[in-house]
Amino acid sequence: MRILQLSDPHLLADPAGLCRGRPPLELFQHALTSALQQLAEAGTPPDQLLLSGDLCHDETWGGYARLRDLLAADPALPPVAALPGNHEHLLRLRAALGREVLLAPARCCLGQGPGSWRLLLLDSHCPGQVGGRLGSAQLAWLERELVAAERQGVWVLLAVHHPPGPIGDALLDSIALADGDALLALVAERPVARGLVFGHVHQHWQGWLPGPAGRPLLGCPSTLCPFPAVQPCPLGRADDPGGRLLELGETGEIRHRLLRWDLPRVFSLPTLP
Ligand SMILES: [Fe+2]
Repeated sequence: MRILQLSDPHLLADPAGLCRGRPPLELFQHALTSALQQLAEAGTPPDQLLLSGDLCHDETWGGYARLRDLLAADPALPPVAALPGNHEHLLRLRAALGREVLLAPARCCLGQGPGSWRLLLLDSHCPGQVGGRLGSAQLAWLERELVAAERQGVWVLLAVHHPPGPIGDALLDSIALADGDALLALVAERPVARGLVFGHVHQHWQGWLPGPAGRPLLGCPSTLCPFPAVQPCPLGRADDPGGRLLELGETGEIRHRLLRWDLPRVFSLPTLP
């Protein structure tokens, strides 16, 4: 089972608008095309697309409608799951995309029976705040899901927009997941949780979950723009947009591959004053 993770597109209502000096819609379209082409050429097409938050920077209906239309334009696209980020308007997100996209908090079943996987989508959005929080009700739901997965003999991958712990960047660590410690404590006691992926940090980052060894904790680059990298990029391309392929095995192992692509040769530059 393969998941393509793309993150932090920061779309706008204006299809020609710029965010951080770049055209988010054009770069998200380019990301989708580039990643799918790379995976097709490698013979590893994804079974699932995961968008890990900050979908719409200006939190407008128009931004979500662009995303909906872009996803609908490719009938060959695998099913899509998405998390809200801090840059989000939950009612507009749900109204525009709720029929086509599985939205957090939710359980995404990848296959059936023992050895299959559940992708648990967590919602860390806090209205009006840059940092995130899951809250006690969602943590209790997560614990029930992990217990049920153990009973059923299925593996779990967790996805949340905000990193659950510090990555080593003072600014980003101050706007992470407020109850990340509670999440990590829960996961440490549940070996059925095989890994956790997040967005928010706009860079490749790799660590490990506490508890049983060998369970990756992975930050994903943005399709729009990078933030200063804490760790060296394994591909030496920290300034390029990117995403990640996650390959989930029947014995609970997660293999992952960082994806990078060039910026389009020509994209709309901001108009100088
Ligand atoms: Fe972001």
